[in-house]
Amino acid sequence: MKFFLDTADTDKIRDLYSTGLVDGVTTNPSLIAKSGKDFFETLREISSFVDGPISAEVTSTSLDGMIKEGEKLSKIGKNIVIKLPLTEDGLKASNFFYTKKISTNVTLCFSPAQALIAAKSHATYISPFVGRLDDIGENGMDLIKKIKTIYDNYPELQTKILVASIRNLDHVIESAIIGADVVTIPPNVLEMLYDHPLTKKGLEAFLNDWKSTNQSIL
Ligand code: E4P
Repeated sequence: MKFFLDTADTDKIRDLYSTGLVDGVTTNPSLIAKSGKDFFETLREISSFVDGPISAEVTSTSLDGMIKEGEKLSKIGKNIVIKLPLTEDGLKASNFFYTKKISTNVTLCFSPAQALIAAKSHATYISPFVGRLDDIGENGMDLIKKIKTIYDNYPELQTKILVASIRNLDHVIESAIIGADVVTIPPNVLEMLYDHPLTKKGLEAFLNDWKSTNQSIL
């Protein structure tokens, strides 16, 4: 399973990229607004050191506008993935970019039907938002299970499941159990993956015992 980082904070991306855990990056207009930085400069900076896919979202809602924006964004680098909303025009744009061999990420997916039609429009990735479904009292991970079953039933559907709107470790682990292709993880959740109370406690005990030996490795 691939790990993408779900942020536009370039310092965070640089820091966590050095772990070797990060296979790509996803951004959205809200994350760009939160960073306070220029959209194009941010994407150029990320693509200067991240080799994997980097999702950049269009903000037009018309087909023509999405195509123009997507073509401009794709010029930033070969690994830019055009993020499109799951609307009728968004799916037409997905099909258009497929014919141009430009990768797409169809976002704001909340139902199995939407995931099915995104795959039929040749989206490279589908982004189901699990956290936002949980927020309204539904079960986000049930959606991932259903999409996985549908896509597995029809091997000609090549779209990859990119689990988005991740809030906690369970979302990551459940995604791995279900067999999702990618999880896009906010930096704070990626950092949680390291944490276990027994690791912390065990390390403290090892270091205390080592101190009592009065030895040094260096
Ligand atoms: C990523 O591509 C999505 O835009 C993002 O995961 C949404 O997350 P949120 O629901 O926490 O805003």
